[in-house]
Amino acid sequence: MNAGPSRRAALAAGAVAGIGTTGLAAAGPAHAGSRTGGGAAMNRGPLTVFAEPFGTTKNGQQVQRWLFGDHVLGVAMLSYGALIQGIRAVDGHGGRADVTLGLDSLEQYETMSPYFGATIGRYANRIAGGTFTLDGKTFHIPLNNGPNALHGGPDSWNTRVWSATPIRRAHEVGVRFGLVSPDGDDGFPGTVTTSVDYTVSDQSVLSIHYRATTDKATVINMTNHSYFNLAGEDSGDIHDHRLMIRADRFTPIDATSIPLGPQRAVAGTPFDFRTLHAIGSRIRVPDQQILNALGYDHNWVFNAGINRMTTPVVTVHEPTSGRILDCYTDQPGVQFYSGNFLNGALVGPGGRTYRQGAGFTLETQHFPDSPNEASYPNTVLRPGQSYDTRTAYRFSTTG
Ligand code: GLA
Repeated sequence: MNAGPSRRAALAAGAVAGIGTTGLAAAGPAHAGSRTGGGAAMNRGPLTVFAEPFGTTKNGQQVQRWLFGDHVLGVAMLSYGALIQGIRAVDGHGGRADVTLGLDSLEQYETMSPYFGATIGRYANRIAGGTFTLDGKTFHIPLNNGPNALHGGPDSWNTRVWSATPIRRAHEVGVRFGLVSPDGDDGFPGTVTTSVDYTVSDQSVLSIHYRATTDKATVINMTNHSYFNLAGEDSGDIHDHRLMIRADRFTPIDATSIPLGPQRAVAGTPFDFRTLHAIGSRIRVPDQQILNALGYDHNWVFNAGINRMTTPVVTVHEPTSGRILDCYTDQPGVQFYSGNFLNGALVGPGGRTYRQGAGFTLETQHFPDSPNEASYPNTVLRPGQSYDTRTAYRFSTTG
């Protein structure tokens, strides 16, 4: 039996938490109007973290579900894929809803999930032809997205069962997930030892801290692939959400979603989210870049000269619920994907089908295909170096 206890019931039982990163609580965009720190007036209750059995993979591995947070922000994660199954957040009217797309059974995650909530490695997004050369040697990653390798190839870290240990600190709780990826894993060189801390703070911040080391030169680019819908996972499409990305440029793509190389200015294009715009307002403009991806599925290049860990680089506001999501990261870019390939085949825990535009992702990252594009920031990790990056999502409400 792979079906676990209902995620909805588990989240409602009160597990929640937040990630306390100094500076985040004070930061916030002026244009969002007055706002609260996500249920500031509510009794948050204690921060808790606990695990329960969730199911068994098709090859017999036990999977746990971890629930952590407080009454204002609660997260459910599986040790399978170190994936976020759900995030329960308060709205501006005192209600609560699950604001990420998810699935109720492990079997669905193993067979059908388009990376819902997953921790992605070794290489987020695409590597052209699944091929790159490092220190004069050429490596081949099995193709799983037309002519390219996507999200580390067909058997990548989102399909593994990770070790998991709870994190309990004064103002945050969460889970440390760990994995050892052997030399040659999915074609990548070097044994990589990785850990990812997911924590929730009493300031309604979900923080992610990625770390990795290697015993041979390799490439690495980790992210999280949560699909957000701030009106609730069962509410329909995200086209009325208002989005702001602090980026003057993006990386245009070819018809197989590989970046063309040079960056392009967003000014005068449907990619200009420098001020808040409804996601759907320009998504049907017949711009070749929109047509290539059936919507938004591109890498925005964050502007230089801002402290991306104290100033939100992405803000999303959902007017009906009043929820606001701010994203902070030390990474140079973000893949904003508008859920273009969701086709109605999956049904969420609220009983509604997930169709095109049911959720959006904010995959903080190095740029797609960086191993083949010398002008992009470097993604090579060598023995003795530490891969150490952070991304945080802060939830709040207007009002
Ligand atoms: C990323 C890619 C998209 C799509 C999704 C998963 O966001 O850029 O093209 O493959 O993952 O469906």
